[in-house]
Parts: sequence; structure tokens; C-alpha cells
Amino acid sequence: MPDFIQEAEALFAYTRALRRDFHMHPELGFQEVRTAGIVAKELNQLGLEVSTGIAETGVVAMIEGGKPGPVVLCRFDMDALPITEETGKDYASTNPGVMHACGHDGHTAIGLTVAHLLHQHREDLAGTVKLVFQPAEEGLGGAERMVKEGVLEGPRPDYSLSLHLWNEKPYGLIGVTPGPAMAAAESFEITITGKGAHGASPHQGLDPILAAAQVITALQSIVSRNVRPLEAAVVSVTAIEGGTTHNVIPPDVKMKGTIRSYLPEVRELVHRRFGEIVKGVSASMGCEAEYVIFDITPAVVNDAGMAAHVQGVVQRLLPADGLETDYRTMGAEDMAYMMDDIPGCYFFVGSANDEQGLNYGHHHPKFDFDERALPKAAALMAAAAADLLK
Ligand code: NI
Repeated sequence: MPDFIQEAEALFAYTRALRRDFHMHPELGFQEVRTAGIVAKELNQLGLEVSTGIAETGVVAMIEGGKPGPVVLCRFDMDALPITEETGKDYASTNPGVMHACGHDGHTAIGLTVAHLLHQHREDLAGTVKLVFQPAEEGLGGAERMVKEGVLEGPRPDYSLSLHLWNEKPYGLIGVTPGPAMAAAESFEITITGKGAHGASPHQGLDPILAAAQVITALQSIVSRNVRPLEAAVVSVTAIEGGTTHNVIPPDVKMKGTIRSYLPEVRELVHRRFGEIVKGVSASMGCEAEYVIFDITPAVVNDAGMAAHVQGVVQRLLPADGLETDYRTMGAEDMAYMMDDIPGCYFFVGSANDEQGLNYGHHHPKFDFDERALPKAAALMAAAAADLLK
């Protein structure tokens, strides 16, 4: 097996230059035209078969091994966020109001580095690597759309791999967890309708603000009283809007929020109790409630065998690094759509560095990460793929 760590370190200047260039020129989901252009150009220069324009700006490239064998999909997301950057770095965003605040600039650079690493050893691969550069991961449905446009066909992958640079963990720590690793996510909208009245005459109205307050409180009982204590779920009301002034009881209140869970049965339970509480508590206050729950993404569930495989790669390549085998987050990732019925592993590469102030959370205007994680991530991904094609 080649020394992918050493080879990735040798490419560090290339990887970092790409990452900083992407960072300076962030693009929102489905608008990654410049980014996708660079990705396609770099992949073309390696002589790979490249397809562009999948789900608007998605790019797919094939690395054909010297021998026949299975197909491994490696996926990297490319989009940025509608955030104004406050890092003050010399490679900060030059696109006002748009920022790579999640590290997808790093992921894209890692993907191109993986292309180099595996291309160099293509003769030794028994099978095919399908490199997928995905648009619009940030809640816009890029993965689902790529799947609809055939990314899982021609050829169909046998295995899938993906990763995230992760500031919730320090540099030097890798998280590879069998089973659920990231949550199923839904968003919801509630409208509670009562009857408006003068603020001094509440008895003449049906107060939707009081009903909303009761609903919010009662929703907290789902996780604390209904979900089994050892299972995970989140119900967060994150927006509330009702009323205009101090002496008017408004006719309605609107709320928004998110639901997270790992297991389908927990998800079903939460949805059922959510509906019962929203409707029932509102009705008990004389109000009517309507709600809609929108799917965002299913849970990211790592195949046990694939997780064990990647854990083995981490232990072999980075024996001095920490390996966490039970790290999960209630964050969501649309990679779930590409792992749905393909055994896969989604792993986390620790990228925070407290001493250098590189420890802001994902989606923070001061988010930045320890770039030494880039070659590690690329080497792990390349080795994990190559090991499946021995
Ligand atoms: Ni992300």
C-alpha cells in the first residue's frame, strides 16, 4: 500500500492553494460555477473522464483502475453560506455576504487531492473510483438532486465514502462511528389561529400568543417524557412571530423550528406527539392549529463493516492520532441520500486548534480550521478507497 500520508503531505501546497482560492471565492448552493469550473479543469488535467452540469453545478469524474472490481463513490461538497465573513484573514471571502463557513472549500480541495493520489496509483486499483463534487449541501437538496439525475447509476457504486472537517473536535482526532452518525432533519411551520381582541379585553378574544407559549412548553415534553431516555431526538422552536403592538391580541401566531432524530421509530414517535401537542394544546386554549413538517434529509447511517474498515485505515495511517468510535452529532448531512442503500461511511476529521483561534463553530462568521487537517483527510479518503479496491 502506498504511503498516502506522505504523498498527501507532498501535495500540501497544492491543496492549501486550492482551498484558499475557493475560500476567497465562495459560491452559494447551485451557483458554484467558478468552483465547479476549477474542479473540472483540474480533473481534466489528470486525464480523467469528467461529467459536469449534474444538478446544475455538480461534477463527477471516474478513475478507472488497472483491473476490474467494485465501484467506490467518494463525495465532496462545494457550497458556501449566506454569511458575512469576519475572520480578517488575507484569504477571506471577496464575495460580499457569502462565506465558506462550514469548510466545504476544504472538502473540494481535499477531493482534488484525492483525485491526484488515486490517479497516481490507478494501475494498482482493482475497480473504479467515482469522485462526486456536489453542489448545495446546505439545506438546498444538492445530493438528492444528484441522485435523481443518476449519480448512483452508470456505474452503480458498491461503497460510498464522505467526510467533514470538524471544528467540534481538535486537530489530531478522527471520528468514525458505526450506525447513525448524523441525524435525520426536518423543519416545521405552525400557524395557531385564535381570535383577535383589544389587549384590555382578552375575554372577547381567543389568544393565540398564550396558546403558542403553551405549545412551545408542551413540545419540550416529547424528548423528556416520550422518547426513550437512551435514544436521541431534538425538537427546537426557533422562530415565533405574532402581534404588532402592546394593546392588540393578534388573530394568529406563526412558529418555525426543527426536528432531529436518528432512528425511524423515534422520528415517527416525535412526529406523532408533535401533531397531538400542537393540535391538542391549541384546541384546549380555544385556538386552531395547522402545521407542516418538511423533510430535509434522512439520518446518515454508517454501515458497520464500512465503519470498521475506515477505523482500520485511521489506525494504520495515523497511529498517533486519536480515534473516536462513538462520535455522533444531531447535525444533518444530505450525503444520507447517497448512502441510502449503498454501504457507506461518513467520518469526521478534527480541525480545531485552540491556540491559533481556529475553534469557532461551523457556520460562525469567524469560522476557520487548521489546514494541517487537509492532507490527513485526503490521505484517509484515498487509502479508504484504495483499500476497497485491492
Ligand atoms: Ni458542512
